[in-house]
Amino acid sequence: MEKYVIRGGNRLQGEVTISGAKNAAVAILPAALLSDEPVIIENIPTISDIDWSIKILNCLGVEVRMLNRSTLWIDPKNITGHTVPYELAKNMRASYYFLGSLLGKIGVADVALPGGCDLGTRPIDQHLKGFAALNAVDSMENGIVHLETEHLTGNRIYFDMVTVGGTANVMMAACKADGLTIIENAAKEPHIVDLANFLNSMGADIMGAGTDVIKIRGVDHLHGTQYSIIPDQIEAGTFMVMAAATAGNVLIRNVIPKHLECITVKLQKMGVTVEEYDDSVRVIGGAPLQKANIKTLPYPGFPTDMQPQISTLLTLAEGISIITESIFDSRFKYVDQLRRMGADISVDGKVAVIQGTGRLKGAPVKATDLRAGAAMIIAGLAAEGITEIEDIHYVERGYDGIEKKLRALGADIKKVIIPEEAVLQQAR
Ligand code: EPU
Repeated sequence: MEKYVIRGGNRLQGEVTISGAKNAAVAILPAALLSDEPVIIENIPTISDIDWSIKILNCLGVEVRMLNRSTLWIDPKNITGHTVPYELAKNMRASYYFLGSLLGKIGVADVALPGGCDLGTRPIDQHLKGFAALNAVDSMENGIVHLETEHLTGNRIYFDMVTVGGTANVMMAACKADGLTIIENAAKEPHIVDLANFLNSMGADIMGAGTDVIKIRGVDHLHGTQYSIIPDQIEAGTFMVMAAATAGNVLIRNVIPKHLECITVKLQKMGVTVEEYDDSVRVIGGAPLQKANIKTLPYPGFPTDMQPQISTLLTLAEGISIITESIFDSRFKYVDQLRRMGADISVDGKVAVIQGTGRLKGAPVKATDLRAGAAMIIAGLAAEGITEIEDIHYVERGYDGIEKKLRALGADIKKVIIPEEAVLQQAR
């Protein structure tokens, strides 16, 4: 096992290039199955969720070749299976996308209920409701969701809540359904639009992605394509907060500034300078940080995936800030870790009250999930002294080479191996 060791206090300076979007890539790889010809996908981030996606594709008989560090060639012509076993599905949330893609491709799917970050209950009832509307029947045995259909048929689907996974999953299956599917109350996240663009580049007929009504007219055949994934909104937002937390000056390259607007506006309100360019943003910290109230919402609202990072920044601000988490039931697990570093935060259900103390002190902490791990890194970079972060496998699920990128910006961060004896002692 490994941990990050950070000596805090260095101001981040220089340039960083953002990788392809995790949450787009983990949908686009399963969607590639729908093609009848090989596809090439570029700008894929090097993260463990992609490794797991490739393992699942391989287990279904799909040929995958790595053309270079960020480009994959995927040939789904000879797909042989329709089962994603628990050993693979448990490693990431996005394994649920194989339900929609297998259903669309071959009309049958057996996918173990997905794993992923523990953010409270994460049902998939809306995905199943969508598949049922498309004329698929579902059942569940031994934790495996079974879907099958004689013939997918387009239909009107209204989601009870905005769901990213549900929208993407139904969109994939509906591409191959007979006739028109209309998804209402659809998610509008940038990765939903990216997935729709990818599917359209293979010959799908999807309109309205990025609005709350998506119309999909089914087609018989999807063909090969060469497609480049959008930059990661959350990785970019995380580096923006890192620059702000260290009173740094960082040019964040390969971003879509429009996707970052809700983060930019909050940072500016807190006293951080954010300059927008065509495909980059410069973040300059150093002015006293002001308190802010933030409520997470579906896009274009403030992303839940940035909540732990911005909350950490607010511990360094003057005054009381209130954070309301409205997407997930339990996304404040990291607060106990921040308290170890001197943060003053109280949590009541989905609301956290942060009394800014202006400073954090290094301590041993752990990543409780992916974005919580990013929050610990931010805390460590800003803190006085040394912070050691365990369970960094969570961070590696979604941030491409984060410690290398941070070192290039002047951070004092290294990854060290935890001796086996120490791991065993902790387990006792
Ligand atoms: N929900 C239901 N039933 C459903 C689907 C969702 O009740 O059938 C609820 C969820 O429990 C949650 C809310 O609806 O309370 C929104 O869930 P959503 O389906 O939008 O989330 P998700 O598909 O499970 C994706 C991202 C998450 C991100 C959320 C919200 C992927 C692989 N995961 O999850 O990303 O937080 O959308 O934007 O795309 C992360 O990257 O760190 C991460 C957790």
